[in-house]
Amino acid sequence: MPFQVDAGIVSASLTRALHKKRLEQEVENYRHHLEDMVADQTRQLREALSQVERSYDHTLEVLGAAIDLRDGPTAGHSRRVFLYSIEIAKALGGLEHQLRNIAMGAWLHDIGKLAISDGILLKPGPLTDDERQVMQQHVQIGYDMVRGIPFLADAAEIIFAHHERCDGSGYPRSLKAAEIPVGARIFGVADTFDAMTSDRPYRGALPFKVSREVIERGAGNLYDLQVANVFLNIPDETWEAIRNETAAAPAFAPATASDIQALSGLANCGNGCRN
Ligand SMILES: [Fe+2]
Repeated sequence: MPFQVDAGIVSASLTRALHKKRLEQEVENYRHHLEDMVADQTRQLREALSQVERSYDHTLEVLGAAIDLRDGPTAGHSRRVFLYSIEIAKALGGLEHQLRNIAMGAWLHDIGKLAISDGILLKPGPLTDDERQVMQQHVQIGYDMVRGIPFLADAAEIIFAHHERCDGSGYPRSLKAAEIPVGARIFGVADTFDAMTSDRPYRGALPFKVSREVIERGAGNLYDLQVANVFLNIPDETWEAIRNETAAAPAFAPATASDIQALSGLANCGNGCRN
């Protein structure tokens, strides 16, 4: 008996096959669309995060500039010690994961001075004992201001320790040597160097050579020995370049491009610094 094709069955079969093919195509199209959507949303999320990060940096830059403006005689100090500290930290090595905290601690070290009255902060003559006590509170005030901000918690420790000295003669806790966060030990040298090589109302800037000698004499007692040695091995040209760059920027300017790139706390305000 000859084979007979059932046109109805063939037609139904073709219809099912076409329907299946169409469904597969729709699933494939949907998968591609989904991948594009995920890629697009991932890109948008990355951009948003990057913008938030830049906003943080800009806010911090303005804060640092505000500190310098408030403390008139030390204009540009925050920016310089920020850059000096990064330079020393990089030369010290092994601190890559702490560079940003060290930078932020140095940048904001005197943020507590925003709460010190003009009569004391800007007093041209020597401070009385009572006034000095008030001035020294800027360390605790700064710490309290910053420690609650999660991404600045480590920087807050540098702010808290920025007037400690390795021999225990600093304040507020008289910490010694390794009890002081490494960022604050680095800042100690950077801050002393800047204080000495900057004009003050009561004296002109001292030569780099004199500042180096003072840090060399203080190495191992006031200043961390290793940090001081690393500092002493960095050529004057490096410090000169930073001073020239920061001098060119207006005091109220946010950080320069190199500041941002440099993102990577004193200790002692050093000789010639009264607080
Ligand atoms: Fe300070």
